[in-house]
Amino acid sequence: MTNLFSRSLVLLLPLFLLCTACDASSGKQESLPSHPVDSSSASSMEEAAEGPAPSLATSSSEASPAPSPSSYPVTDRDLTSPDSLTLLVNKQHPLNPLDYAPSDLVSWRGVELRQPAAQAAEQLVQAAASQGIELQVLSGYRSYQTQVGTYSYWQQTYGQEQADVASARPGYSEHQTGLALDLGDGSGCNLQPCFAQTPAGRWLAEQAADYGFVIRYPWWQHETTGYWYESWHLRYIGPDEAAAYRQSGAESLEDFWGAGPAPHYN
Ligand code: DAL
Ligand code: ZN
Repeated sequence: MTNLFSRSLVLLLPLFLLCTACDASSGKQESLPSHPVDSSSASSMEEAAEGPAPSLATSSSEASPAPSPSSYPVTDRDLTSPDSLTLLVNKQHPLNPLDYAPSDLVSWRGVELRQPAAQAAEQLVQAAASQGIELQVLSGYRSYQTQVGTYSYWQQTYGQEQADVASARPGYSEHQTGLALDLGDGSGCNLQPCFAQTPAGRWLAEQAADYGFVIRYPWWQHETTGYWYESWHLRYIGPDEAAAYRQSGAESLEDFWGAGPAPHYN
């Protein structure tokens, strides 16, 4: 696996420099190879079939301060129930069922998220804006079928080895939980490694935990998480859990939750 990642690093670095859709999830980037199934078109397809998700109110009058952690360490985590906020999803832990879809999705700023994640994300985006950081929402919930298209795009464009370090296979994506989202700032670094060095990327790294989110695929943790650094991909786990994670010094959710590394699929 080390060899795979080493080879992938050599092969992927030029791609990262050229590609502005490393999460291959949004049609909002301009210099991208066009993506077959982006989050907005998938959302439209699903709305046509199932009706639109309820909206989350986003008026500033309804915004509330970031919740404060009340107790930690958290000892009663549920890492396996699909509706759990601490559900572990990685290459060793698929969704169960594989085509799981959350029941509490709401529409939020052009994407869908589970209600608690959307509420917290709204607080995060508003807090960032109040400090001069204008965040863009690039991707939220992606259904199993949407991820079929996303992964297939990566596989057909770059081959399976490269696809597997940038895009999750259907049934294995955190986006399918409705608890993950990708944020950008429109600076030209959306979904690229340089996002980490932007004011928005730095703000998220420092502040996201206050709102219950973690940077899910940290720098140089690919041997544990299975994916390259994605400074734009946030995962909601709740403010108490995020505070405990930050305080622990753990470098990945896999380590923090004692789940073991997940560099590859079985
Ligand atoms: N890019 C992340 C790993 C996903 O596809 O879910
Ligand atoms: Zn993502």
